[in-house]
Amino acid sequence: MSDELGYEVNKNSPFGWKNFNFVISFPIRYENLFQRNSSFRELNKKLEYSIRKTGDEMNRVTNVQADMTDYKTHLSNAHFETLGNTVIELCREGMKNKHKFVICDMWGAIYKKDDWTKPHQHWPYTWSFTYYVKVSDKTSPLVFQNAIHPERHTPEAMPIQPKVGDLFIWPSIILHEVPKQVVDEERIMIAGNLMMDHIATEKFNYSEWKKHNQYK
Ligand SMILES: [Fe+2]
Repeated sequence: MSDELGYEVNKNSPFGWKNFNFVISFPIRYENLFQRNSSFRELNKKLEYSIRKTGDEMNRVTNVQADMTDYKTHLSNAHFETLGNTVIELCREGMKNKHKFVICDMWGAIYKKDDWTKPHQHWPYTWSFTYYVKVSDKTSPLVFQNAIHPERHTPEAMPIQPKVGDLFIWPSIILHEVPKQVVDEERIMIAGNLMMDHIATEKFNYSEWKKHNQYK
């Protein structure tokens, strides 16, 4: 995760063109996995157990100011891997691309009272996601920044109050945060990042590509 890319236009910046900025249409994929397949209710119990059992491995050194498992939990936990495979399917669905996506990072977190996440984004990954294992209507929302309101057409914060089983997939470059949790309840979730497999795994070999794509 990185917070190096700001979204405010710096009028004195040498980078840019006459203070122009871009409004780009970004999709957010939403799906409640419990409605997609009832087997996710069982998986959800296993994910919750795994996250609790693992506990905090990151000691709050990341943007996430809550108990957090390490970034590669999908490589050590079969239930995370199962969820990851569903996310991969959903990322590929509807995309006319021969390359599939792979999970590069995946972690679980337990937020309690006063826990929060700093504003940040996940560039240079392609897709990022959050899945909600245990939440209520009082636990902290996920808040995207600089969303264009459909009626007011102005950039503003867009809070999402997730339900258990909800999965959101969005372009990794979107700035987001989790405000400090007010209630004394657990908020358990999983997040992750994806990239196309040939980039993530460096299977893509430039000299091979050049051989087959000679300039004429
Ligand atoms: Fe994030």
